[in-house]
Amino acid sequence: MEIGIDKIGFYTPHLYVDMNKLAVERNVEPEKFTIGIGQEKMAIAPLTQDPVTLAANAALDILDEEDKEKIDFVLFGTESGIDQSKSAAVYVHRLLGLNPQARAVEVKQACYGATAAIQMAKGHIALNPESKVLVLGSDIARYGLNTGGEATQGAGAVAMVVSADPSIMVLEGPSAYLTADVMDFWRPVYSDEAFVDGKFSNEQYIAFFSSAWEQYKSKTGQGLADFEAFSFHLPYTKMGKKALRAVLDEGTEEDSERLLANHQIGAVYNRNVGNIYTASLYLSLLSLLEQSEDLQDGSRIGLFSYGSGAVGELFAGRLQPGYREHLNVARHSELFATRKEVTVSEYEEIFQETLPTDGSSLDLDIDQDPAKICLSGIEGHSRQYVNKASNIEAEKISARAER
Ligand code: HMG
Repeated sequence: MEIGIDKIGFYTPHLYVDMNKLAVERNVEPEKFTIGIGQEKMAIAPLTQDPVTLAANAALDILDEEDKEKIDFVLFGTESGIDQSKSAAVYVHRLLGLNPQARAVEVKQACYGATAAIQMAKGHIALNPESKVLVLGSDIARYGLNTGGEATQGAGAVAMVVSADPSIMVLEGPSAYLTADVMDFWRPVYSDEAFVDGKFSNEQYIAFFSSAWEQYKSKTGQGLADFEAFSFHLPYTKMGKKALRAVLDEGTEEDSERLLANHQIGAVYNRNVGNIYTASLYLSLLSLLEQSEDLQDGSRIGLFSYGSGAVGELFAGRLQPGYREHLNVARHSELFATRKEVTVSEYEEIFQETLPTDGSSLDLDIDQDPAKICLSGIEGHSRQYVNKASNIEAEKISARAER
């Protein structure tokens, strides 16, 4: 039985800041951000979007009634969780109206969480071939204003349905993975901003990729020529290129050209969103699938996941015949096209608006947020979520009943 990605969706908030303008305000040359880091636009989450709503909005677009019935496991990878106890998956399960006969859990290991979720989903489908698993990766990356990591923030989510006989990509069996206890990036429970040793984190990322690649080659006997492309976890787009370059001298000139060109294509969405931690690798995969015109059915794509702290995993997927018909290119280009730019000072204001931490209640204006699923406030220590789409549906039903 072949198991893999049957559907894939993405959501990012409607606001962004231009990296050229951020550079000017921070007194650095714009090329440092746009070329040195490789970021063009950075998604900004308003208070009405949190990791739960981002993930639910990403999933909303891809699920049909059959999926909602068959999904019996919701796995939510995140490192910006909203609760120490209750999983974000349970909120999403309700907001999407999924079958109650389902498991729902949150998975944490920095940016690796969604990859761990994918591997667990594969195991679940192997035991229950008729079921489907909803895998979510959703995060808001925050380092703080005027910090070294500021240019590598972002917000967004990717949702994937994992099933048997998938329409988009079969996830192949062999996988190379490793864990080592390193302090390159972490976020203690008392802080809503990450701590990072930037240069060290870059080095660890490359060391983990090189080591996973050696392990992968000895497990599979494959080399660079067996891959049409590599998708990387992209904390910023230059990072993937640096890791790829570390192994390119093993291949031919043609391998280098192909892999570097596909890396560029796979970085298009990330360049315009920023780091979305758990979802970054899958956003890069989505960018490659939706923006490349050269990929063929059957092409093998390597996927490298890195979660600081640290866990790394390298595995591969093979594109299914007709995979393009199962993508949502029009929806994603509309999502990018309808975003609104904010000035640097508006971004700073939004960044500093945080939810109360003293238990007080709050009402948020969700009319300013075009997302279907929003955080509408806090009441009795509990986040209040609204699915405008299902409210519209409910209103339509009651209007029909009154007629
Ligand atoms: P920095 O000190 O601001 O930047 O930190 P820099 O001085 O290293 O410059 C960055 C690049 O811009 C350099 O290129 C410069 O040469 C270049 P490189 O040597 O790296 O190839 N540059 C220019 N290029 C063109 N024109 C110019 C110019 N000026 C300079 N005028 C850093 C950068 C990424 C370290 C910082 O932003 C940071 O700490 N970010 C957060 C940490 C991070 O993203 N680490 C990545 C690996 S760890 C990871 O991926 C896990 C993570 O996602 C978390 C998780 O797992 O949960 C972070």
